[in-house]
Amino acid sequence: MMTILGRAMGDRVDWQSGRMDGAGVQRSVKTVGELAGVFADEAARSGMDAARVVYAVEWTEPVAAGTEGGLFWGATRLEAGCVGDEYFMTRGHFHAVRDRGEFYGTVSGEGMLVLMEEDGATRVERMVPGSLHYIPGRVAHRTVNTGAEAMVFWACWPSDAGHDYAAIAARGFGLRVMRGDGSPRVVEA
Ligand SMILES: [Fe+2]
Repeated sequence: MMTILGRAMGDRVDWQSGRMDGAGVQRSVKTVGELAGVFADEAARSGMDAARVVYAVEWTEPVAAGTEGGLFWGATRLEAGCVGDEYFMTRGHFHAVRDRGEFYGTVSGEGMLVLMEEDGATRVERMVPGSLHYIPGRVAHRTVNTGAEAMVFWACWPSDAGHDYAAIAARGFGLRVMRGDGSPRVVEA
């Protein structure tokens, strides 16, 4: 009897670095210059090297964006650094289809996952190697690197979730994560 093995999709992952390889892999980079208005200290941000990379994302979309019932898969590498006293972080988003959830799993580095309900109530979860985070639907999410090395985490999210960055641009999150004496400070925004 012969076993016919199914064929994998062809894209490959490097678990530790978060890098992906394959024809279906998409890449996005966000620099200091592209993050105007995201950090509290806009003067500090505008004085920095605009080309400095804050984070890079690699992901694969095996079905068209917007398809109901599919999944996307990818990794974010969030660099270590600060804008003023505020740690490097992602813009953060609600999902455009609000009730869609997501998984994050941390590979390396240390930081925080900032989670905000639609009413603005905000909390944080510590991200460390091996930490797995379930982000429920209707909860905005942003990651912050509080360590000295890059923080890498994998994510899996529904193919019809989409991203709503505008809602965050308008109101921000309820908490900010700042460099403190010895340990990060989580402050009201
Ligand atoms: Fe998301």
